[in-house]
Amino acid sequence: MADFARTPKARVAVLISGAGSNMAALLYASRLPGAAYEIVLVASNDPDAAGLALADAEGLETCALSHKGMARAEHDAAMDAAIRASGADYVALAGYMRILTDDFVAKWRGRMLNIHPSLLPKYKGLDTHARAIDAGDSHGGVSVHLVTPELDAGEVLGQLPVAIRDGDTADDLAARVRLAEHQLYPRVLGEYVSRAYRADWLLEQVRTRALALPEAEERASHGAPGWRTAGKSGKYFAYFNDRHHGSEHIALLVKTSGPDEMESLIERAPEAYFKPAFYGASGWIGVILDRPGLDWQSVEDWLERSWAAVAPKRLASLQRAAAEL
Ligand code: GRF
Repeated sequence: MADFARTPKARVAVLISGAGSNMAALLYASRLPGAAYEIVLVASNDPDAAGLALADAEGLETCALSHKGMARAEHDAAMDAAIRASGADYVALAGYMRILTDDFVAKWRGRMLNIHPSLLPKYKGLDTHARAIDAGDSHGGVSVHLVTPELDAGEVLGQLPVAIRDGDTADDLAARVRLAEHQLYPRVLGEYVSRAYRADWLLEQVRTRALALPEAEERASHGAPGWRTAGKSGKYFAYFNDRHHGSEHIALLVKTSGPDEMESLIERAPEAYFKPAFYGASGWIGVILDRPGLDWQSVEDWLERSWAAVAPKRLASLQRAAAEL
C-alpha cells in the first residue's frame, strides 16, 4: 500500500466531450482524504459540454477548444499545449469523442487512460451496450485501459462486470454501467498514478533490469531481494531495500567506486541518494526509487556499473564489446 500522505499528488488533466459524469466522479474522489491525484484541468472539444460548466463551478481550470475547422493534428497539438501548460503529468479521457493522432498518443504513452463501457476486449468502439444485449451476454461492464494508437486496445488496468437483466434496453444497461464507471475510474486512476511509490511495483521494475544483465541471478540477502553474478564465486551487485534499517526510502543499493564518491553524490543530490546503514561504510549508495521524476535510465546505468564492478573480467569485457556494437 502506498503511503499517500508522504507522496506528492499526481496532476491529472481530464478530457471530455459531454456530460462529464466520469469527470465529476474523478473530481469528487480526488477531494477525499488521502487521494493520490488532483485534477488540474478539464478540457473539451465541445464548448457546450455540460461537464465544463460543472468543472468551472467547482473551481477547476477549464479549456474549451472546438475542433471545428481545425485539422486533427492541429487540434491535438493545441490540446497538448493546454495540458502541458496546466502542469499535468497524466491525462484521463472521460467520454472524449475524438480519435487521437498517433503523435498525441505517443507523447502521453503510459500516462493516458481511457474509460470504455464494455468488458474489453469485447465490443471496442460504439454501441457497446446494444451489442452485449444482442449477443445474449450475461454481463456488460466497463474497462479502464491505457491508451495506445489502436482504438480501445491498450493494456486493461481494471474492469467491473454489470449484470444484464431480462428485457434490458441499451439505455437501461448504460445507466447501470455508468454507476460502475464512477466507482471504477477513480480507483484505477489512483492506483495507477501511485504505483511508482509502491514497493511491489518498484521491485518488479528493478528485478527485470537486474536480471537482464549477463548471468545475473536473484538471491535474498538478510531478507532483502538481491542480485549477484552467477556461480560459486558470484558477488552481489545490487540490493532492494524497502524502508530497511529504519530508512524512510524504498531504494536500490549499488556500488560506487568508494566512500568518497558516495559522499559527494549524496552532497550534490540528497533528494536522489542516501548513505545506507552498514553498506554505506564500504561505498555502497542508496538510490532513492520512491520519488517524483525518477529516471529509470539512470537506475539502469547504476545497475550496469555496479554489475561491471563485480562481474568476472570475461563477462565484463563481453558486455563492453556488446555495448560498443
Ligand atoms: C461513458 O459511458 C464512458 O464510458 C464513455 O463515454 C461516456 C462518457 O460519459 N467513454 P460522461 O460524459 O462521463 O458522463
